[in-house]
Amino acid sequence: MQKNPGGLSIEPSGFFEVIDEAGQMLKWDRKYELGNDRIDAEHRIFLGLIVDFHDAAERDVPKDKLLRIFKEICKYAEFHFLSEENIMIDHRYPEQENHTNSHAKLLAEANNKLYQLQSGSINADDAFNFLFNWFAFHTSSEDKKLVGYIESSPDQ
Ligand SMILES: [Fe+2]
Repeated sequence: MQKNPGGLSIEPSGFFEVIDEAGQMLKWDRKYELGNDRIDAEHRIFLGLIVDFHDAAERDVPKDKLLRIFKEICKYAEFHFLSEENIMIDHRYPEQENHTNSHAKLLAEANNKLYQLQSGSINADDAFNFLFNWFAFHTSSEDKKLVGYIESSPDQ
Protein backbone atom coordinates (compact mmCIF):
# COMPACT_ATOMS: atom_id res chain seq x y z
CA MET A 1 0.00 0.00 0.00
CA GLN A 2 1.49 3.33 -1.05
CA LYS A 3 1.78 6.14 1.42
CA ASN A 4 0.58 9.48 0.30
CA PRO A 5 1.77 12.05 2.84
CA GLY A 6 -0.84 14.64 3.51
CA GLY A 7 -2.94 13.37 0.63
CA LEU A 8 -5.93 12.48 2.74
CA SER A 9 -6.20 15.58 4.86
CA ILE A 10 -9.68 16.99 4.94
CA GLU A 11 -9.74 20.58 3.75
CA PRO A 12 -10.50 23.32 4.48
CA SER A 13 -10.78 22.55 8.19
CA GLY A 14 -7.69 20.35 8.30
CA PHE A 15 -9.38 18.70 11.25
CA PHE A 16 -8.05 15.26 10.44
CA GLU A 17 -4.86 14.22 8.71
CA VAL A 18 -4.25 10.53 8.31
CA ILE A 19 -0.59 10.74 7.38
CA ASP A 20 1.73 13.10 9.21
CA GLU A 21 4.64 14.98 7.63
CA ALA A 22 7.06 12.14 8.32
CA GLY A 23 4.77 9.83 6.36
CA GLN A 24 3.72 7.89 9.45
CA MET A 25 0.17 6.86 10.21
CA LEU A 26 -1.31 9.30 12.56
CA LYS A 27 -2.71 7.87 15.78
CA TRP A 28 -5.44 9.40 17.84
CA ASP A 29 -4.52 12.80 19.16
CA ARG A 30 -6.33 15.07 21.58
CA LYS A 31 -6.67 17.64 18.82
CA TYR A 32 -9.30 15.35 17.25
CA GLU A 33 -11.55 15.58 20.28
CA LEU A 34 -14.87 17.28 19.75
CA GLY A 35 -15.52 17.86 23.46
CA ASN A 36 -18.03 15.14 24.37
CA ASP A 37 -16.36 12.36 26.36
CA ARG A 38 -18.60 9.54 25.15
CA ILE A 39 -18.49 10.51 21.46
CA ASP A 40 -14.74 11.16 21.60
CA ALA A 41 -14.04 7.78 23.23
CA GLU A 42 -16.05 5.99 20.54
CA HIS A 43 -14.41 7.99 17.72
CA ARG A 44 -11.04 7.01 19.10
CA ILE A 45 -11.89 3.31 18.81
CA PHE A 46 -13.47 3.91 15.40
CA LEU A 47 -10.30 5.56 14.03
CA GLY A 48 -8.22 2.80 15.64
CA LEU A 49 -10.13 0.18 13.65
CA ILE A 50 -9.53 2.10 10.42
CA VAL A 51 -5.81 2.28 11.26
CA ASP A 52 -5.92 -1.50 11.89
CA PHE A 53 -7.33 -1.93 8.40
CA HIS A 54 -4.54 0.22 6.92
CA ASP A 55 -1.84 -1.67 8.83
CA ALA A 56 -3.27 -5.05 7.79
CA ALA A 57 -3.37 -3.93 4.14
CA GLU A 58 0.27 -2.83 4.35
CA ARG A 59 1.24 -6.24 5.74
CA ASP A 60 -0.55 -7.94 2.83
CA VAL A 61 -2.61 -10.12 5.15
CA PRO A 62 -4.98 -12.65 3.54
CA LYS A 63 -8.04 -11.01 2.02
CA ASP A 64 -10.32 -12.84 4.41
CA LYS A 65 -8.66 -11.03 7.34
CA LEU A 66 -9.05 -7.65 5.61
CA LEU A 67 -12.73 -8.38 5.05
CA ARG A 68 -13.15 -9.34 8.71
CA ILE A 69 -11.64 -5.99 9.82
CA PHE A 70 -13.90 -4.13 7.39
CA LYS A 71 -16.90 -6.00 8.84
CA GLU A 72 -15.73 -5.12 12.34
CA ILE A 73 -15.71 -1.45 11.29
CA CYS A 74 -19.26 -1.76 9.89
CA LYS A 75 -20.50 -3.38 13.13
CA TYR A 76 -18.76 -0.78 15.25
CA ALA A 77 -20.21 2.01 13.11
CA GLU A 78 -23.70 0.61 13.66
CA PHE A 79 -23.17 0.57 17.43
CA HIS A 80 -21.59 4.03 17.45
CA PHE A 81 -24.36 5.57 15.35
CA LEU A 82 -26.98 4.18 17.74
CA SER A 83 -25.05 5.69 20.65
CA GLU A 84 -25.01 9.09 18.98
CA GLU A 85 -28.70 8.85 18.15
CA ASN A 86 -29.48 8.09 21.80
CA ILE A 87 -27.44 11.13 22.81
CA MET A 88 -29.44 13.21 20.29
CA ILE A 89 -32.71 11.97 21.84
CA ASP A 90 -31.49 12.81 25.35
CA HIS A 91 -30.61 16.34 24.25
CA ARG A 92 -33.67 16.83 21.99
CA TYR A 93 -31.30 17.69 19.17
CA PRO A 94 -33.33 19.57 16.53
CA GLU A 95 -31.36 18.04 13.63
CA GLN A 96 -31.76 14.49 14.88
CA GLU A 97 -33.71 13.31 11.84
CA ASN A 98 -31.13 14.59 9.31
CA HIS A 99 -28.24 13.25 11.32
CA THR A 100 -29.92 9.85 11.71
CA ASN A 101 -30.60 9.74 7.96
CA SER A 102 -26.89 10.45 7.36
CA HIS A 103 -25.99 7.51 9.57
CA ALA A 104 -28.26 5.22 7.55
CA LYS A 105 -26.64 6.42 4.31
CA LEU A 106 -23.13 5.99 5.75
CA LEU A 107 -23.91 2.42 6.79
CA ALA A 108 -25.34 1.61 3.36
CA GLU A 109 -22.23 3.08 1.68
CA ALA A 110 -19.92 1.07 3.92
CA ASN A 111 -21.80 -2.18 3.28
CA ASN A 112 -21.66 -1.47 -0.45
CA LYS A 113 -17.88 -0.92 -0.27
CA LEU A 114 -17.51 -4.11 1.74
CA TYR A 115 -19.29 -5.96 -1.06
CA GLN A 116 -17.01 -4.31 -3.66
CA LEU A 117 -13.89 -5.30 -1.71
CA GLN A 118 -15.22 -8.82 -1.39
CA SER A 119 -15.96 -9.11 -5.12
CA GLY A 120 -12.62 -7.58 -6.13
CA SER A 121 -14.01 -4.48 -7.86
CA ILE A 122 -11.98 -2.30 -5.44
CA ASN A 123 -8.63 -3.02 -3.81
CA ALA A 124 -7.42 -2.48 -0.22
CA ASP A 125 -6.08 1.02 -1.02
CA ASP A 126 -9.46 2.08 -2.38
CA ALA A 127 -11.19 0.59 0.64
CA PHE A 128 -8.90 2.41 3.06
CA ASN A 129 -9.29 5.74 1.25
CA PHE A 130 -13.04 5.31 1.40
CA LEU A 131 -13.04 4.37 5.09
CA PHE A 132 -10.88 7.25 6.18
CA ASN A 133 -12.77 9.90 4.23
CA TRP A 134 -16.10 8.32 5.23
CA PHE A 135 -15.15 8.58 8.90
CA ALA A 136 -13.38 11.95 8.82
CA PHE A 137 -15.93 13.88 6.81
CA HIS A 138 -18.89 12.90 8.99
CA THR A 139 -17.11 13.36 12.31
CA SER A 140 -15.59 16.72 11.37
CA SER A 141 -18.88 18.11 10.07
CA GLU A 142 -22.12 16.65 11.43
CA ASP A 143 -20.72 15.26 14.69
CA LYS A 144 -18.90 18.52 15.37
CA LYS A 145 -22.23 20.33 14.96
CA LEU A 146 -23.96 17.91 17.35
CA VAL A 147 -21.31 18.38 20.04
CA GLY A 148 -21.52 22.17 19.56
CA TYR A 149 -25.26 21.97 20.21
CA ILE A 150 -24.84 19.80 23.32
CA GLU A 151 -22.27 22.22 24.73
CA SER A 152 -24.54 25.21 24.20
CA SER A 153 -27.74 23.51 25.32
CA PRO A 154 -29.03 24.51 28.77
CA ASP A 155 -30.00 20.95 29.81
CA GLN A 156 -26.71 19.24 28.95
FE1 LIG B 1 -22.85 11.09 13.61
